[in-house]
Amino acid sequence: MKLDLDRGHNEPLHQQIVRQVETLILSGELPPGSGMPTERHLASLLRIHRSTVTKAYEQLRAAGLIHSVQGRGTFVADSMWDLQTNHFPRWSQYMSSGVFRPTISLLRKVHQLTPDPSYINLADGEVSLDLLPTAIMKELLKGEDMASFMHYSDPRGERKFRQAIARHVQKQYGIEADEDEILVTSGGQQAMHLITQCLLSSGDSIAIECPSYHYSLPLFMSSGIRLLRIPVDQDGMIPSSLPELHRAHRIRMVITSPTYQNPTGVVLAKERRLELIRICRGLSIPIVEDHTFSDIRLHGEAPPLPLIANTGVEGSVLYFGSLSKSAAPGFRIGWIIGPRSVISRMADIKQQFDFGTSPLMQELTSRYLESGGWSEQLERIRAALSRNQETMLHALDRHLQGKAEWTRPGGGYHIWCRLLQPAAETSLLEEGIRQGVLMVPGRVYGAEAGYVRLSYARANEGEIAEGIARLARAVSIVAVGQR
Ligand SMILES: Cc1ncc(COP(=O)(O)O)c(C=O)c1O
Repeated sequence: MKLDLDRGHNEPLHQQIVRQVETLILSGELPPGSGMPTERHLASLLRIHRSTVTKAYEQLRAAGLIHSVQGRGTFVADSMWDLQTNHFPRWSQYMSSGVFRPTISLLRKVHQLTPDPSYINLADGEVSLDLLPTAIMKELLKGEDMASFMHYSDPRGERKFRQAIARHVQKQYGIEADEDEILVTSGGQQAMHLITQCLLSSGDSIAIECPSYHYSLPLFMSSGIRLLRIPVDQDGMIPSSLPELHRAHRIRMVITSPTYQNPTGVVLAKERRLELIRICRGLSIPIVEDHTFSDIRLHGEAPPLPLIANTGVEGSVLYFGSLSKSAAPGFRIGWIIGPRSVISRMADIKQQFDFGTSPLMQELTSRYLESGGWSEQLERIRAALSRNQETMLHALDRHLQGKAEWTRPGGGYHIWCRLLQPAAETSLLEEGIRQGVLMVPGRVYGAEAGYVRLSYARANEGEIAEGIARLARAVSIVAVGQR
């Protein structure tokens, strides 16, 4: 049986196996009743993990194309007649024609392995379990009758919760917004989807600082939106490149994460914030401000106020925040703040997406914010991540001195590391996996070759030190292989 897998393709490997075996069976090349290779044998032939073949065989079995007999092996279904009259859907074709493009394959690989505790996780953008607000949640839920929070929500979010958010953003970031200027979302991720799908059309060009988390989202490609790169230095994006870019491409929107940007950790300097606002105002381009990491300040000066605190809510900035980084990603709570007409348009789309965020979660989060639980937890997260960051910096000094350069960000979850001898991303990721450490290659975030993003949020200090030692081994092995 001859299968040809394309590792660089977006289609997952198991799906490629399913599609090709399906074709071989339907074309008669694999006749009814013929024996299939064992999972182990096929995995070794294709030089892939056995679990990938297991997954493909499961899917083929579910489609009725093959069947397994205990002690004897796996066979193509006995009767071609059954297959031809079955008219089962060709799922692989459906799956490759959906509206949304699949996640970048490098990232998918990392996501598949992160639940496995045998790897040291320097990839995840979430804190470790012991930093989550479990105790206070238990307290808030104790003996409560939650029956009144089980209805469909107002698609904008419950009024009481939007008022709680208005107080929160006023106190924490100096943003003056009322409840009609706020839309509750399922995290920042949904905020980005709503903004893109409500306000942009296929063929539009948008400018995003590069590198940026936003390049990792298939969302823009799925929506036919072209991404224009704005360069970034140690003071954040360089806005002076925007007018030229606009003349050439007519920018429809600028997206920025000005505070502890993911992945670089940089903060957009105050003067550049004002310059960005001035330029975008002059060109009538809206700015989308992603404030997701803004609370994770670890050292150094307090970051400047968000852009929207400078422009006012009815101005040119559409702002979104989230509790994923400062509380728990499992809350799935975020918000968009902007002009009421835009909020109301997006609320209508949110209604069409999911009928509103769970009122139960909104109520719990509202109590959590108002009880002071959020501020306490944030202090714990900051203290733990400051220690973790120090540990990672020490380990980098010890193991990668002379082989890489890295940032010392004032906040956020990540260190952005540049290898002095750039390695092919896939080889580095695969060697890292062999060494038992996960990180994210920089290409995922739009960077040129040779960068990796290292998260100090998930692993503990011992794991971080060991993880960097393993990464250094992987870097050396890949460098030798490249010579
Ligand atoms: C910069 C940035 N923005 C937005 C998000 C979306 O996060 P969530 O949907 O959990 O709020 C993430 C997630 O990692 C992120 O890194």
